[in-house]
Amino acid sequence: TKMLYNDRIVERESLINIEDRGYQFGDGIYEVIGVYDGEPLMLDEHMERLERSAREVRLNLPSAISDLKNKLVDLVAANGLGEGIIYMQVSRGAAPRWHEFPNHDVSPVTVAYTRAEERMTDVENEGAFAILAEDIRWLRCDIKTLNLLPNVLAKQMAVENNAIEAILHRNGTVTEASASNVFIVKGGQLYTHPSNNFILNGITRKKVFQLCDALNLKINEVTYSTDELLDADEVFITATKLDVVPILKIDDHVIGLGKPGKITRRILQEFRSLYL
Ligand code: PDD
Repeated sequence: TKMLYNDRIVERESLINIEDRGYQFGDGIYEVIGVYDGEPLMLDEHMERLERSAREVRLNLPSAISDLKNKLVDLVAANGLGEGIIYMQVSRGAAPRWHEFPNHDVSPVTVAYTRAEERMTDVENEGAFAILAEDIRWLRCDIKTLNLLPNVLAKQMAVENNAIEAILHRNGTVTEASASNVFIVKGGQLYTHPSNNFILNGITRKKVFQLCDALNLKINEVTYSTDELLDADEVFITATKLDVVPILKIDDHVIGLGKPGKITRRILQEFRSLYL
């Protein structure tokens, strides 16, 4: 398959410099974009978020966002990708290893590749389990940086407990999950953590807001506790490619009736109608 390397689409191969700052410091940013029937979903929103992440970590994107966007569309076509994802990252570049930013003549390194991946229709239909874990991340979770070790450790703990996700909390306040956003339903309304520095403002999350608007479902962007989470009528998570996954059990607590809830199913149905 092909990959994007800076401004060129080339055969996929390892071009990583051992002094790339993404590799050594996690000094870079990334996006994962869902591809459905050959179409990247919400590409503009992903590119806007990339631009924002770049600004927040003071990284100068090497090319205009419109160019990057066109390159990603070309890459999907070059690989003949139907269902899957685009992974792209921009690191601050390769330079002798010092913590501070390298000299101005060091350019950021952009790479992107695609991966074929089926839709997760089964978990979406049937639901999955989650665990609770402490959110030990830094205070700028709104930036999509390459530093994912706390997320990796939390996800691994989930998988070792037959769960799809680790739902994270800070001192009993639910933030998000290791690689997805969390919504709860109580009394016919939705609740999700506000988009501030404690969570990543998910593109799928944003889409759920739009869908709920159209469905006349109220979403309260407020914090809620782990007790409120466990006591919810419905819980679901959202992320690129995972889309909307009902959570039936968290640790040993069954959520609601222990099956995908009515409102969750309604949102999932709307979400699917976007690309079916
Ligand atoms: N993760 N929160 C975190 C911490 C995430 O890593 C992600 C996505 C989300 C959901 O964002 P979106 O709806 O834009 O995908 C929320 C991607 C998929 C990943 O790291 O693989």
